[in-house]
Amino acid sequence: MTEKPVSVCIVTFGCQMNKLDSELLRSELVRKGFVIADSPDRADVVLYNTCSVREHAEDRVFSHLGSYRRRSKRDDRFILGVIGCVAQRLGEDLIRRFEHVDLVCGTQAFLRVPEHLQSILAGGGPVVDVADGDLAQGGPSCGRVPGARERRHQAYVAVMRGCDNFCSYCIVPYVRGREASRPLRDIVEEVAALAADGVREVTLLGQNVNRYGRGLPGDSAGFADLLALLNEVDGIERIRFITNHPRDMSDSILDAMARLDKVCEHLHVPAQSGSDAVLARMNRGYTAAHYRAMVARARERVPGVELSSDFMVGFPGETDADFADTLALLCGMRFQQSFIFKYSPRPGTEAARRPDDVADAVKRERNQILLAAQQEVDRARRAALVGREVDVLVDGCDKGESAARASGRGVGSGASDGTRLAGRTRQNDIVVFEGPEQLVGRLCRVRVTETTVLTLFGRLAEAGMPLAGGERNRS
Ligand code: SAH
Ligand code: SF4
Ligand code: F3S
Repeated sequence: MTEKPVSVCIVTFGCQMNKLDSELLRSELVRKGFVIADSPDRADVVLYNTCSVREHAEDRVFSHLGSYRRRSKRDDRFILGVIGCVAQRLGEDLIRRFEHVDLVCGTQAFLRVPEHLQSILAGGGPVVDVADGDLAQGGPSCGRVPGARERRHQAYVAVMRGCDNFCSYCIVPYVRGREASRPLRDIVEEVAALAADGVREVTLLGQNVNRYGRGLPGDSAGFADLLALLNEVDGIERIRFITNHPRDMSDSILDAMARLDKVCEHLHVPAQSGSDAVLARMNRGYTAAHYRAMVARARERVPGVELSSDFMVGFPGETDADFADTLALLCGMRFQQSFIFKYSPRPGTEAARRPDDVADAVKRERNQILLAAQQEVDRARRAALVGREVDVLVDGCDKGESAARASGRGVGSGASDGTRLAGRTRQNDIVVFEGPEQLVGRLCRVRVTETTVLTLFGRLAEAGMPLAGGERNRS
């Protein structure tokens, strides 16, 4: 490489797995002598880490890529790359469509980006690498360089990669490959290394964490065993995980959540639909009754647990009656949060072979109805929290509208020398309150004083207590 290090900016779209991959790649780039740029404008190399889950997500990427045409023409040393799920799905076609793209690197090959960049910098021409890899075995683990993480006290950790569920609408199994769990010991080592680097909260990632451990030699350790081991890691105060599949929710996981003091009482369990006919066509492997029973079981076994969900509207053949079943499920379950998506056909999936026969106007209307229903549930749930004390791990200083609101209303200590801090409860509710900046990364007790649609506001009750005996024992 030349004397002046080459700067790289990674722009990330998509889910937490993509955020994690961007972090891992930043570390790998730094280790290979590149520097990280915060803004694409000043970087020598711009990489888009992309999402394919809905057509709209891909369109956004295409419009970003299109906007670099002039810059690429003007500056022939500028390098534009595409990584992640769109890169995996389209491969070489991306270069055919955007001739100014220099690098296409798929979801299992992204750690080879530094070597591909070196080859392009040496005049080797464009590179397409969408080869299979085995990220779960000996793939990225500890050793993230400082600064590669978005937040100092929080980290994502992949416990498994890929997905074998093949829900009929979903592109993920095609772009992320087969399900593979990482060895238990690798994950524990990674979490210990993160704790030593100041991480207090880890979020374990997998498309279906309930299936963690399948296929590992011996086939003995499951997700509950992993949680138990991670609960022993010094320095880690909270453990979260996403996503759980409703079909596979075992009592052993629920009981581990109830028993282990660091494991937070929050479950993201996407329902997708409340209609048995639609669920069957989605290949989800459960009925609405099974889903309801699973939620009841979770609430019974894990005191104080909150659940969140994803729903899809306008799946092929979805009737008014099917939609009414979905609305009933959403209202009945009293979710903490629901993410609602309009069905988008993905090329190559089973569902895309059926006509996309629910009109967009109908999808939009159903989307609005579910959003409004969720907001109503949410309002009632939050109102019940006012006056209560909650444990908050402070993420950082709050920016934006909620900050203005917290100070404008005099929430906290009134005219203050404090900063607006934002953090999360164990149940994953966001709380904004005033306090000294030194509390970032620490646990505080906060009394909830007020609530809006997305945020709770509160006043500091007690801060940074040592966690003898575990956080939960203090409530
Ligand atoms: N593994 C997770 C999440 C996968 S993608 C799970 O099993 O739930 C996140 C969400 O995107 C899904 O839960 C689903 O609601 C939505 N989604 C996936 N494919 C979609 C499609 N083709 N159109 C619209 N929404 C989709
Ligand atoms: Fe997609 Fe289903 Fe796998 Fe989730 S479980 S990633 S929705 S195929
Ligand atoms: Fe995630 Fe989107 Fe890929 S949701 S796995 S980045 S298709």
